Amino acid sequence: MIDDNKLMDKIISLSKQRGFIFQSSEIYGGLKSAYDYGPLGVELKRNIMNEWWRSMVHERENVTGLDASIIMHPKVWEASGHLAGFADPLVDCLISKERFRADKAPIPNVGDDINITCADKGQAKDYQKAIEKRFNIELTRNGKILTGLKVIEKNKVGFFKEDTQNPAEMFDFPGYVSPTFGSPFLSEEKQFNLMFRSQIGAVDALGDIANFVNDNKHLGKDEMKQGIEKIVKDSAVYLRPETAQAMFVQFLNCQQTMSMKIPFGIAQMGKSFRNEITTEHYIFRSCEFEQMEMEFFVEPGTQKKWLEYWRDKRLEWWKSFSNYPDHFIYRAHEKDELAHYADACYDIEYKYPWGYDELEGVASRTDYDLKKHAEHSGAKLSYFDQQKEDPETGKMGWRYTPYVIEPAAGATRGLLVYLIDAYHEESVKDAKGNDTTRVVMKLHPRLAPFKVAVLPLIKKDGLPEIARNLVDQFMKAGINARYDEQHAIGKRYRRHDEVGTPYCLTIDGETKEDNCVTIRDRDTMHQERISIDDAVNIVMTRLNQ
Ligand code: GAP
Repeated sequence: MIDDNKLMDKIISLSKQRGFIFQSSEIYGGLKSAYDYGPLGVELKRNIMNEWWRSMVHERENVTGLDASIIMHPKVWEASGHLAGFADPLVDCLISKERFRADKAPIPNVGDDINITCADKGQAKDYQKAIEKRFNIELTRNGKILTGLKVIEKNKVGFFKEDTQNPAEMFDFPGYVSPTFGSPFLSEEKQFNLMFRSQIGAVDALGDIANFVNDNKHLGKDEMKQGIEKIVKDSAVYLRPETAQAMFVQFLNCQQTMSMKIPFGIAQMGKSFRNEITTEHYIFRSCEFEQMEMEFFVEPGTQKKWLEYWRDKRLEWWKSFSNYPDHFIYRAHEKDELAHYADACYDIEYKYPWGYDELEGVASRTDYDLKKHAEHSGAKLSYFDQQKEDPETGKMGWRYTPYVIEPAAGATRGLLVYLIDAYHEESVKDAKGNDTTRVVMKLHPRLAPFKVAVLPLIKKDGLPEIARNLVDQFMKAGINARYDEQHAIGKRYRRHDEVGTPYCLTIDGETKEDNCVTIRDRDTMHQERISIDDAVNIVMTRLNQ
């Protein structure tokens, strides 16, 4: 069993060394929490996304696809509520200047001591002085920890001198402390927009801003800010923070061109962008990521049934590519967790090394989005069912705004999940009988970047030609095969174990005599001789099993 704390480090290291994931702009020192999917990462990501597309679109008559532009009309975001509401309240620690999300901060209980935990003794001394200067209290320093504070009411902290029972001073605090240091000395909550803003049009707004500032030097700070904001807003566009909205906006076009009848879905996958405050756990939460979302339009009143249907289907799908299906669960949202547009929601969660956390949300979004876009655009985003009786008039034919069930998955987050699921270390004997560790990525064969590696035992005697010919046959059959002649055969097997190649085919001296190759299974390491003429069919059958 691999220690959970070390597992992420091992995955990050293997991902870089084997070409799955690189730090973005690495030669310039890297861009924080931005990642590039390397030669094998791009294959794995595409395989996951193609499998999703297959199961959500190709295998369903009632789901159609869409690939919308990332930059949409700004009114889309006004209607969806993202412009106003796509904000999480942020707070700054007045001492350490740490900025964090108020809704994620730790909440101490009444009676708890508040210990401000610094990085080291030096920092503790600095913070002690800063607190003394600003709040006129001297906390006791115990190594890197500052003590003397206690929660005395839900929103009140008391300062207690050593060995005293009554507080010498009392301070208001918001009921939570900063996540890193545990400080209760915090700023007011501030709104912060999670959408990336850019400008559309060839003319740079900077020129207009410069003119405005020049002509309005007399304005105060707030008026100046409002004036500049107006100039920026006139040409502002936003990178989409979710793929979902385009499917509401294109509801009528998709429904009418494909003559879709309710219940039906529109699916889309692609990049989304969020100015995340906390980027964490490698690619788990980053600013640029990929989503796989589907909006499933249903008759009002049937949403509960469809929500459960999609929750179960999506959970089953994630499990179907996993070595540990019981590491996937679903969890119903509590009432106070629900987004403003949802009447119910399930999170599909995975057991990450840091504990269970979100992988996909399956939400019942009511008719909120279609109604909002209808209201803001003037378009009639409704559906007419000739076969149904209108519940209000009792007459045949019912026009209504469909309700929506949305399974919204992270493609890049899914990639991380399958890397974690696949990572195995096994103790095996080397050629000399010594114990060694074999690292093997047990990726589902349909997700594995290479399906098969073809390895000539030696680089001469016509073996490379036979191997290349076989690779050609695999490629023609649409199977991603890799020719590999570098290093000893054992090393090559290990290399392909580490990138999850399910099958290695070795061409040896006997191949020319018996027209056979050795097929080695990645997981069992079992080897058998098969006819070279059957190789493509055998691999194809095993991949589809
Ligand atoms: N349309 C609904 C929506 O976007 P969400 O829960 O915010 O819902 C859906 O996102 C999924 O997208 C999440 O379950 C997660 O897998 C992925 N996701 C969201 N934010 C992410 C981020 N910053 N980095 C990586 N994946 C993210």
